[in-house]
Amino acid sequence: MQYENPKLVLETSEIEEGSITWKSPSNIAIVKYWGKYSDQLPQNPSLSITLETSFTQTTLHYAPRKQAGQGVSVELYFEGTRNEAFEQRVRKYFEKILPIFPFLRQLDLKIETANSFPHSSGIASSASAMSALALCCCTLEDEFFHTLDDDEAFDRKASYVARLGSGSACRSIYPYLALWGETGEVPGSSNLYAIPMAEQAHPVYQTFHDDILIIRSDEKKVSSSAGHGLMHNHPFAEARFQYARKNLHQLLGALRTGDLETFGKIAEAEALMLHALMMSAPSPYVLLAPHTITAMERVQAFRAETGHPVYFSLDAGPNLHVLYPESVIHEVRPFIDEQLAPLCEDGLYLQDWAGEGPEQL
Ligand code: DP6
Repeated sequence: MQYENPKLVLETSEIEEGSITWKSPSNIAIVKYWGKYSDQLPQNPSLSITLETSFTQTTLHYAPRKQAGQGVSVELYFEGTRNEAFEQRVRKYFEKILPIFPFLRQLDLKIETANSFPHSSGIASSASAMSALALCCCTLEDEFFHTLDDDEAFDRKASYVARLGSGSACRSIYPYLALWGETGEVPGSSNLYAIPMAEQAHPVYQTFHDDILIIRSDEKKVSSSAGHGLMHNHPFAEARFQYARKNLHQLLGALRTGDLETFGKIAEAEALMLHALMMSAPSPYVLLAPHTITAMERVQAFRAETGHPVYFSLDAGPNLHVLYPESVIHEVRPFIDEQLAPLCEDGLYLQDWAGEGPEQL
């Protein structure tokens, strides 16, 4: 691990108790990360829009450890209630990153975490949850050792650490747009962490909305981790990884020039390909719902009729993300309310948009 640092150990007498709070957003990938190898390394580069209103807020309370022990001492409360399943996942994660933050072993940790989006909205929370935890750990390191004063170095380490928790989480660290994965087309890109992309893109992308249609809120039949696993023996794996690079190449051009048509074409092609990969996996599965398909058709028909730049994307689930720039909000919102909201569970959709990234509270 690149950031292993056995020196980050505290003098027991130095430890005071305290707490750190970060709010960190989810993100929607335009070119998808689907397939990984080794320790959370992506098979192809991915590029996402950082969201604003879908976030996790996490407080990490710390105090000198009362009873010495081998692993990490942590208790986790999700939306006010102790959650042992999530606690177990976080304990494993913290134990994995002990070589980076050895001082975690010297503390009693208590985590309080909550999401801005409804618990059963089917929104992927791992990106926001794991990035919030990674940010808390980096801030804790900086408070104890003053090692991360430089903002760029802080963000890079937070992104690296977030990746070890959940791949897509490493992209949530940056405002508006982020790229994760090595590509010769973008200097500084890496498989180990994401990098900010907003400065290299046309300003129209900072005005993008993402209204998330809650088509179905029940838990996914197949987790993303299992989905990534199925890419190992997938008949189309190599073609997919190459195709993603081709799509990224075109997307980078569209980002620079503000070519929304190309942007939208790639967003939709990637969403459909992600689900096509699930449907053609060695053990195939379908996460789309009938209303997802109807919503996609309506978005495309509305675009054809009006010429407005409205496009869709999908995560590994049935909920459609409707993407459009601020300039057409007055035309698009009535369309969503009239034609798409009735396809949603309880008529629910979440209004989100490209955001400024995580915030320490
Ligand atoms: C479809 O980041 O959730 O959202 O690394 O196993 O935690 P793990 O997977 P995860 O996968 C996200 C997949 C995706 C596409 C994307 O966000 O790029």
